[in-house]
Amino acid sequence: MLSSRRDVIIVFGVSGVGKSTIGKQLAEQLNLLFFDADDFHPQANIDKMAGGVSLNDEDRLPWLQNLNNQIRHWQDKGGAVLACSALKESYRQILQTDNAPLQWVLLNGDQTLIRERINKRSDHFMDDRLLNSQFNTLEVPHYGIKINVYNDVASIVQTILQKLNNMDKSEIGLIGLGVMGKSLALNILDNGFKTAVYNRSEGEEVDVVSDFINENASYAALNGYTDLKEFVEGLESPRRIVLMIKAGKAIDSVIDALLPYLKKDDIILDGGNSHYKDSLRRQELLSQNNLHFIGCGISGGEEGARKGPAIMPGGKLDAYKQMEPVLNAIAAKDKNNNPCSGYIGAGGAGHFVKMIHNGIEYAEMQLLAEMYHLLKHHNEYEEIASLFEEWNSGDQGSYLLEITIDILRKKEGDQYLLDFILDKAGNKGTGSWSSKAAYDYGSAATMMAGAVFARYVSSFKDQRVRFGIDRHEKHDKVKIDPGILRNAYSFARWINHIQGLELIRTASDHYNWGVDILEVCRIWTNGCIIRSNMIESIMHYLKDGTALLNHASLLQNLHQQEDACADIVSAFIQNRIPSPVFSNALNYWLAMTSEKLPANLIQAQRDFFGAHTYNRTDAPVDQFFHTQW
Ligand code: 6PG
Repeated sequence: MLSSRRDVIIVFGVSGVGKSTIGKQLAEQLNLLFFDADDFHPQANIDKMAGGVSLNDEDRLPWLQNLNNQIRHWQDKGGAVLACSALKESYRQILQTDNAPLQWVLLNGDQTLIRERINKRSDHFMDDRLLNSQFNTLEVPHYGIKINVYNDVASIVQTILQKLNNMDKSEIGLIGLGVMGKSLALNILDNGFKTAVYNRSEGEEVDVVSDFINENASYAALNGYTDLKEFVEGLESPRRIVLMIKAGKAIDSVIDALLPYLKKDDIILDGGNSHYKDSLRRQELLSQNNLHFIGCGISGGEEGARKGPAIMPGGKLDAYKQMEPVLNAIAAKDKNNNPCSGYIGAGGAGHFVKMIHNGIEYAEMQLLAEMYHLLKHHNEYEEIASLFEEWNSGDQGSYLLEITIDILRKKEGDQYLLDFILDKAGNKGTGSWSSKAAYDYGSAATMMAGAVFARYVSSFKDQRVRFGIDRHEKHDKVKIDPGILRNAYSFARWINHIQGLELIRTASDHYNWGVDILEVCRIWTNGCIIRSNMIESIMHYLKDGTALLNHASLLQNLHQQEDACADIVSAFIQNRIPSPVFSNALNYWLAMTSEKLPANLIQAQRDFFGAHTYNRTDAPVDQFFHTQW
């Protein structure tokens, strides 16, 4: 284990709890030096106390500061046990150093017992009021070890040793020190959880753990391991292990490697972009071994992982509950300061929702790319950036718009970096998985599917170069009205979110996950890549529990923006610029709001060549007809 701990244990409590006796024995057992805090008072305090006057906050300050210096010194020398009077929280804060966390051991008992003990001591008398005031001063901390002093000294010391041993264990284990894993580990540590990290140490990864520990030596609650068994044994039970590794086979290998070391009720949380069906399968596998699996979507990239991502956990509720305090602490916060994390549902619900988040993300990115393509024929990058900036300060504000503005302005020397970036878009699969899910559950998520195909088409760069046709002369004519473009953008974004959320609802019904779409949107208000002002407006509609398109006022608003989208799609066509995602938005809307579609002809064709039958407009829907064409 690699760590930078230097323990100082503070045994504290009111007079009569036995802190010196217990502290001394504890120090002996741990082979540490023992000190009594009373020995560090400045002379003025000693004189005051000798005169029977009790000390106030001001008097105690130099004493506490002196103790803080001593603690630093003891931490550097390898640790100590310090016995201390009833310290209130503000005093305890003064004793903390940034060197290493203090181990607090509160000795406590009820007032009658303590009073009896004090009275038994022949050399000791304590006025009732003084003892009461000590009890009042003592603000019982929510942290540290708390011991009731009813037992004999030896067994109290044993209990403390046992608890200290347990406290040595980490609260959370994290496997995988890639960019996201490192950032998340530091986020967990910043939120006060003792964290053990593991990474394999082979080939190029040989120094990953030691480098991480050295770079973060200021985190005393960080332990690093390169041995998986030691890593698991270094965790408190039930073990809570976060996997931050590449989705796919690597997850199965790590789970297989962990299994022999895990015990009943231990929990594995997969924080990567895993496929929801894999999460479902892994959950079943682990539950056969009396273990728990949480498939957990985490969005926000490197910065989100470090400072607060949006978190979408799914799996068994009781396993989630064990992880909840950590997830809530590390998550971004919504406008009411609630964590952008929350239980999504059973099975693969967490990873499913994250996957659709990415599907929406794909379409949002593609809309911005299509607008950039359209605008750049008539505008300088700076002009486009300024236009987007104007939108970003209003109801179209979003993280993706914000980063696009920065990207448009980024220069290398006196040239725009964007002009040097090859126009071939990559992908890691979540966009196509989302689109496949739409096909699987019969949901019309046309925009994310269009965005995935747009990336694929972009990747055929060689063919595009070979087939290239110069249309500039003939078609580069239509100028774009920024106001119309803004409305078209708003319209398309609404349709994108409507499609994505509808897909979540359909899958949730299919699997009986009971996903609360309003809660999903709340989680997406901050920390994630698709965070935007629009999500807040969407939540406003979802509050009554019905799907977005059921709201007449929303239909009305979209109807008002429909012309703008039609104008823009037409401008794309006139300029011969591809706009698969803007067009898909418009086409979905036109179809969804058309009472009649030409599907009667499709049905007739199906019946003609395959006797697939059709329903009639003049007969009940459960009656099927076939014609001898
Ligand atoms: C996030 C992102 C993140 C990643 C995706 C997209 O929510 O933090 O979605 O998960 O950027 O994997 O990746 P591709 O565009 O490469 O598919």
